[in-house]
Amino acid sequence: MDVAKLNGILDRWNRNADFLIEIMQDVQDEWRYLPQDVMRHVADELRVPLARVSHVATFYGAFSLEPRGKHVVQVCLGTACHVKGAPRVLDAIARDLKIEAGQTTADQQFTLEGVRCVGACGLAPVVAIGEDHHGDVSPAGASKLMRKYKTKEDGHGQD
Ligand code: FES
Repeated sequence: MDVAKLNGILDRWNRNADFLIEIMQDVQDEWRYLPQDVMRHVADELRVPLARVSHVATFYGAFSLEPRGKHVVQVCLGTACHVKGAPRVLDAIARDLKIEAGQTTADQQFTLEGVRCVGACGLAPVVAIGEDHHGDVSPAGASKLMRKYKTKEDGHGQD
């Protein structure tokens, strides 16, 4: 655990337990998930029970207790996307990454998730990768998209 980094986050929020959620969001931004030892340190420093921290961590869907990849690939499985073939898009990406929904690749580059409506139904089926939303994605298009991100990671983009 990088204690200096964590203390920086705690200081930013004045070590005030009223900002527990904000602190945990910053922790997740840094570590990409909520490591157990970090949660324990947060509880100690804010003088709140670890159970309260754990409750927040499990209550909010935005938090992850498992390591997540650098790129979180979210395939929308909401109704509009579902009827337009989202499950096949999810399968195509799972095949490409050689993982299943809910898993992270061994190199920690990608996490794949099936999620509820991301609020862009007009673009269905939608795949969100980090902050980017990609619309009208076919299974073949999804594979192409993943190739693009993998190439970017290999350091030889070809756009
Ligand atoms: S159902 Fe997919 S964006 Fe709404």
